[in-house]
Amino acid sequence: MLKIFLIGMMGSGKSYWKQELTKLCKTGGYDLDFIIEAEEEKTIAEIFEENGEPYFRKSEAKLLRWFGEKKAFVLATGGGTPCFHDNMNWMNQQGTTIWIDEPLDTLVSRLLPEKSHRPLIAHLNDMQLYHFLENKLAERRAFYSQSTHHLQGNTIQLKAFKKIINSYA
Ligand code: S3P
Repeated sequence: MLKIFLIGMMGSGKSYWKQELTKLCKTGGYDLDFIIEAEEEKTIAEIFEENGEPYFRKSEAKLLRWFGEKKAFVLATGGGTPCFHDNMNWMNQQGTTIWIDEPLDTLVSRLLPEKSHRPLIAHLNDMQLYHFLENKLAERRAFYSQSTHHLQGNTIQLKAFKKIINSYA
C-alpha cells in the first residue's frame, strides 16, 4: 500500500518510471500535469500563458492534495511541484518521495526535441536550456534533497526502484 511520489527536473523520466512502477506495484499511476490539464481543460502552456505561473502553482498544489484520499499509487509530479505551497513536506508526510536525478546533459538532449509544450523552456536554444536547467536545479536542490530516496546518474535502472519498494514490504 505504497504512496509513491516521483520528483525531479523536467526530462528526468518521471512519467516513464511512473509507468514502469505502476506495472511493478500493480497500482494506479497518475501524472499531475495531466490531471491539471484535464481539470482546467487547457494545456499547461495555455494555463501559463492565460493565467500565469502563480495560478498554475495554486492549481497544482490543490490537485496534489487530492492524493491525500488515495491509498496506493505512483504519481509523476511536475518539475516544480516540490518547490511551492509546502508540497514537499506534504508529500513526505503522505508517503515516499523518490528524486530521479539525471545529469543535465541527459535532460537537455531529451528536452530539446519536445520543449514546445513546456512553457518555461519553449523559447530557449540548447546552450540557454543547459544554463536554465543548471540554475533551476541550483534553486530546487534544497527541496528535491528532502526526498526520502535519491536515485542519481544516467543509468538508473528498475532494480534501484525495486530495492526501495522492497524495503517497505
Ligand atoms: C515544470 C515542469 C513541467 C510542468 C510545468 C512546469 C517546472 O512538468 O509542471 O511545465 O516548473 O519544472 P514536467 O517536469 O513533467 O515536465
